[in-house]
Amino acid sequence: MEFNASSANLLKIKVDSLILPTGSQLKNNAKVIDETLDGTISSLIKAGDFTGKSSEICVLHTLGQSHKRIILLGTDGASTPQKMIKVIEAGARAAQKTTSAKVLWVGESLGDDHEWQASIVARSTLTAGYKYAGTGKKPKPNKLKSATYWTDSKKLSNAASAGLQYGSAIGGGMNAARQLGNLPANICTPNYLAAQAKLLAKGQAKLTTSIVKEAEMKTLKMGSLLSVSAGSVEPGNLIVMKYQGAKSTVKPTVLVGKAVTFDTGGISLKPGRGMDEMKFDMCGGASVFGVMNALLETQLPVNVIGVIPAVENMPAGNATKPGDVVTSMSGQTIEVLNTDAEGRLILCDALTYAGRFKPDTIIDIATLTGAVIGALGKFTSGLLSNDDNLAEDLLNSGTRSGDRAWRLPLWEEYDAQIKSNFADMANIGGEAGTITAACFLSRFTKDYKWAHLDIAGTAWLSGPQKGATGRPVPMLMEYIRSKAAKD
Ligand code: BES
Ligand code: MN
Ligand code: ZN
Repeated sequence: MEFNASSANLLKIKVDSLILPTGSQLKNNAKVIDETLDGTISSLIKAGDFTGKSSEICVLHTLGQSHKRIILLGTDGASTPQKMIKVIEAGARAAQKTTSAKVLWVGESLGDDHEWQASIVARSTLTAGYKYAGTGKKPKPNKLKSATYWTDSKKLSNAASAGLQYGSAIGGGMNAARQLGNLPANICTPNYLAAQAKLLAKGQAKLTTSIVKEAEMKTLKMGSLLSVSAGSVEPGNLIVMKYQGAKSTVKPTVLVGKAVTFDTGGISLKPGRGMDEMKFDMCGGASVFGVMNALLETQLPVNVIGVIPAVENMPAGNATKPGDVVTSMSGQTIEVLNTDAEGRLILCDALTYAGRFKPDTIIDIATLTGAVIGALGKFTSGLLSNDDNLAEDLLNSGTRSGDRAWRLPLWEEYDAQIKSNFADMANIGGEAGTITAACFLSRFTKDYKWAHLDIAGTAWLSGPQKGATGRPVPMLMEYIRSKAAKD
């Protein structure tokens, strides 16, 4: 896909489709275009065939203009970033659906923040064009090859151009995360992820990948992580991806992503219904891949390290049993009351390991608890943090990128629920499962600014649209970008 910004004469640019966002009141260039079509658009509105309400689509052929067709895109009521993103996504889907190879977006009626709007246009165009490939019939390549974002001045066009570049990196990163998420667990194993991480770093000056294998994990005393992979024939890997875009004196942001390539629950076996969806239990790790992809494309001057504990959680004769006590890398002991609460068992050792990078901030991303879906549904990620500023920055990044989270508390009453009679802590306890899980993690992150994103609800969709979403790549990238802009 090619993206570019333009401020040339709107009526002379040759494209297959001109995407015209507009409400029921035609303004500025929407009016001009209507005039060139002898009032066709106002007539459609008058007749009620196009009402201008949010995300409404109406395609008309122009028979002889430099643009072959116009895709009217309703904008009325798109008063928040969230709603505006929905509108742009509808336009991007419509553009992918027609046979157009080249489209042009008339940016002005979306609003005044052209950098942001253009970034959403690019991102949505790429995510709307994503087709799962890898198993089964090869999908047909997309017809759409180029999208232009039009504004009426060179200055605005420069802003749009920067937005397009950023948004296309995010869209690409989301699609990379979705692809890893969608791959079945018999292909996407811990070794597959390790190989992908190596591949990503190939020929990239700023990125280096290393893999901590099980033998080294033993030396590091990662007894908790190893207790999860114990029952699987697939060996676990701790994948480390270092992106260095700034001076080495700049403390890194470390992203720790849960990658359970399949979660059967282990000896605390999950029920059969819908268990296939536990192939998505590596979406936290996949989102770290997505961010790394996006960083390589944007070449942002930041230091970000990705740490991905990748394991398969299986029942077996040598699997961990309920009641087993394991010793984590931190030295704290854990009574494994439920082998299905495995995410925190791999994350705690990965978080301790992440400490060796002297991080500025650690953010972990994990499909950690079913309970977060009960609390926030499929729309919002759970956010828990030991630092108010960090939490606020992440919430704001979520709002700006339309990839929102909501904060839950980490109070001591909850922490008390993971008390164990036989170890320093148990791996489950009490009610409010999302919070107790985060309390567990917080015992391993005392020395750092840390935030935890529970993406069990947001990382994938179920039902007819089953598939990974690529979240929370937009939020994380927005956080990284805005933090770099502040420094
Ligand atoms: N990967 C699951 C969380 C999950 C469950 C995500 C359902 C999406 C949908 C996690 O490893 C898990 O099994 N968590 C348990 C924890 C429980 C045993 C305390 C859960 O949420 O049921
Ligand atoms: Mn589990
Ligand atoms: Zn899990």
